[in-house]
Amino acid sequence: MDDKIMQLKKWIDESDNVVFFGGAGVSTESGIPDFRSVDGLYNQKWKYPPETILSHSFFVKYPEEYYRFHREKLVIDGVKPNAAHLKLAELEQAGKLRAVVTQNIDGLHQAAGSKKVLELHGSILRSYCSACGRPYPADKMNRGEGVPRCACGGVIRPDIVLYEEPLDDAVVSEAIRVISGAEVLIIGGTSLNVYPAAGLINYYRGNKLALVNLSETPYDDEADLVIHEKIGKVFSQL
Ligand code: OAD
Repeated sequence: MDDKIMQLKKWIDESDNVVFFGGAGVSTESGIPDFRSVDGLYNQKWKYPPETILSHSFFVKYPEEYYRFHREKLVIDGVKPNAAHLKLAELEQAGKLRAVVTQNIDGLHQAAGSKKVLELHGSILRSYCSACGRPYPADKMNRGEGVPRCACGGVIRPDIVLYEEPLDDAVVSEAIRVISGAEVLIIGGTSLNVYPAAGLINYYRGNKLALVNLSETPYDDEADLVIHEKIGKVFSQL
């Protein structure tokens, strides 16, 4: 086993207060493209840039266009948790991992069995009426054609945080609490480019910060251990 992976394994073996903070790179090995890699969502050609389509003002103005993108690019059938999701669920079950903080909206941590998952950007598996707030099963939004509507006439929207929208205060507060109290913080599969989520790293106060990411991040110099490899491959050895 690689020395760095062995070091990470040792930190985990010796701790009962590990927290994981991740992003889209955690799910690429499940077949969901990330955003900023060369084959990621933001490097594909659309009539509007995906960052624009995934914004609040665009959703309100062009809900048909939003839903075309949503169903074609955000909803991916048949995806399953990979070794990283499964290991994190196992570590929680073993009383070692306190929480998963994720920027992902795919629900794969829960599908793997993780219980404490703080979804900073919401979930594509939940939806509600933007007018009256009534919740709807996600299938009504994720399947079919056109703009899904509530019985009240309002547009049904995904329970995800669109650009221009604030994060949920309660989720952020809890993420800050677990990260600032963590002994070992593992950050994985995120470019650490999107704020305020990326700023959460600044709340960590320990000296066992591990970064597991294929490419470099702006925080590599601040980590105590940096592993530039596929996260599923690394986690299957922990
Ligand atoms: P990015 O696409 O910005 O970054 C994903 C990172 O994961 C990249 O640095 C890749 O090198 C790395 N990566 C890809 N596959 C990997 C693998 N198998 N193992 C390890 N690393 C891998 O995605 P995020 O950082 O999650 O927000 O992006 C943050 C936010 O930007 C998303 O939540 C989304 C997006 O706009 C909203 O939609 C609000």
